[in-house]
Order: sequence, then C-alpha cells, then structure tokens
Amino acid sequence: MVAVQIRIAVTSFLSLISVVFSVTDPNDLAILNQFRKGMENSELLKWPANGDDPCGPPSWPHIFCSGNRVSQIQVQDMNLKGPLPQNLNQLSKLSNLGLQRNQFSGVLPSLRGLTELQYAYLDYNNFDTIPPDFFLGLVNLQVLALDYNPLNATTGWSLPPELQESAQLTNLSLMNCNLAGPLPDFLGSFSSLTELKLSLNRISGGIPATFKDSVFIMFWLKGQSGGGMTGPIDIVGSMCSLTSLWLHGNHFSGKIPKDIGSVASLKDLNVNSNDLVGLIRDSLANWV
Ligand SMILES: *[C@@H]1O[C@H](CO)[C@@H](O)[C@H](O)[C@H]1NC(C)=O
Ligand SMILES: *[C@@H]1O[C@H](CO)[C@@H](O)[C@H](O)[C@H]1NC(C)=O
Repeated sequence: MVAVQIRIAVTSFLSLISVVFSVTDPNDLAILNQFRKGMENSELLKWPANGDDPCGPPSWPHIFCSGNRVSQIQVQDMNLKGPLPQNLNQLSKLSNLGLQRNQFSGVLPSLRGLTELQYAYLDYNNFDTIPPDFFLGLVNLQVLALDYNPLNATTGWSLPPELQESAQLTNLSLMNCNLAGPLPDFLGSFSSLTELKLSLNRISGGIPATFKDSVFIMFWLKGQSGGGMTGPIDIVGSMCSLTSLWLHGNHFSGKIPKDIGSVASLKDLNVNSNDLVGLIRDSLANWV
C-alpha cells in the first residue's frame, strides 16, 4: 500500500517536472539558431551561446512561447543587420512578429502558411525582394506593415489575390515600398480594414468603385511617383468613418465631392497638388 502511494507520488512529481521543463521544439530551436547565425551583429540579441531551450524558463531575450513552441519574436529597434533564414515560416506557431526598424536585408522571408500569425511588422528595414508566395494562407492576419523597404525596386510589385484570405485584416501599411500598378478591387471588400496607408509608391489608375463600402478611418495615397493616381475622387464622399484622408501629390481630377464636408469625423484632409476643383467646408479649408 505504502509502496503504491510512493509510486504514485513519484510519478506525479516526474510528470510535473516534464510540464515545467518542457523543452523547446527542436525545429523551432534550429530556425532560431539560423536566424542568429545569418546576422552580422547577433551578439546584440544576448542569446546564450550554447543555449538549447529558447522557450525556457527562462526564455531567451526577445522570444515568447506558447508551450514549447515559439509564438513571438520581438527585436524591433535593435540595429540588427543581415539576411534572415528563408524558412522562418517553419515557426508554424508564430502569432506576432516584430522585426521593425532594423537593418535586415536581402529577401523578405515568406510568411506562407503561418495560419496563426496576427501581427507582422517588417517595416523600416532594407529588404529588397518580396517572394511571390509571401501572403499565402495568412488566415488570421490583422496587422501587416512593410513600409520603407526597397522591395523589388526595378519592376515594382503588386498585391496578389491571395491577400484576400486575410479577411480579418484591420491595418495594412505599405508606404514607400515600390507597390506598383492599379489598386486591386478586393482591397475595398475587407470588412474590418480601418487603416490603409499606401503613400509614396508607384500606384496608378483610379480609386476602385469597391472602396465605396470601406470602413477606412485612415486612408493615405499621397505622392505616387510615375504620374500618380488619376480619375475622380467622388467615392471618398461616402466613406463615413474617415478621420484622415491624404490624396495630395497625384493627378486626381474632377470636383471635390460636396458630401466630403458632411463626413463629420474628418479632421485631416489633404488633397492639394492634384487637378481638382471645388470648395470644402471652412473648418477643413486650411488643409487644401
Ligand atoms: C519580386 O521579385 C522577385 C524576383 O525578381 C519575383 O520572383 C517576385 O515574384 C516579385 N514579387 C512580387 C510580389 O511580385
Ligand atoms: C490600426 O488602425 C487604427 C485606425 O487608424 C488605429 O487606431 C490603431 O492604432 C491601428 N493599430 C495598429 C496595431 O497599428
């Protein structure tokens, strides 16, 4: 009887140990080691030299886990330099990736198949290429920022239809990253997309009719190079959640829509340097 009780006690003690000290998934460890190895100044990460358990406890600096799987990398503003492993998407439990404001370079790692990814900040780096399958299968993506990266500089690039799978998207920020061609119609059909920032690219053509039902709060298209965007802007008059609308530095034409004055939330309007005519309400006039 006593022996049985001791055995039960020992067994439950051992299982407790294995829960507390669950060792990081070996493939996640391998990817993090590649992440570190490719970098010129990985010492800034302060990861233990021969560490083999990034999920800990204690976890490695800038790494967060869910169980024994890596769920977040947060290395923003660290001046990190160098390319990233192209198989980063094997960290299949990633939900939040914060790589912004470093000097990462080379090919942007594809995010393909990261079904749990909600936040992806890759902005303000030196990535020069965006792979064609980057957006595939991102079914939980809410926030994506790629601003200020010299992506596909020679040809420019455009948003592929796969992005439509990211139906939860709320914030899409792609300023100054060589986005080219017309705006795809599907951008108007995201039911939660409140922030669309596409300034300083090479977008051409007009604002698609599908944008009529958008719930944009911030909508920025300023300063498209190579001629700029064209056509009428009447459609913005029906975007009733807008607080900030930047259309300046393009070739939009026609009249400034009268109903723009009735978009009560609008605080920040800039439509100058276009070919527009018309008047807007006094309270906004200094922005024109
Ligand atoms: C970016 O350029 C690369 C290499 O030229 C090309 O394979 C890729 O399809 C381009 N990306 C997009 C999204 O068009
Ligand atoms: C997303 O956009 C909204 C509306 O502009 C803004 O209030 C919010 O801070 C943004 N969220 C993130 C995570 O950038």
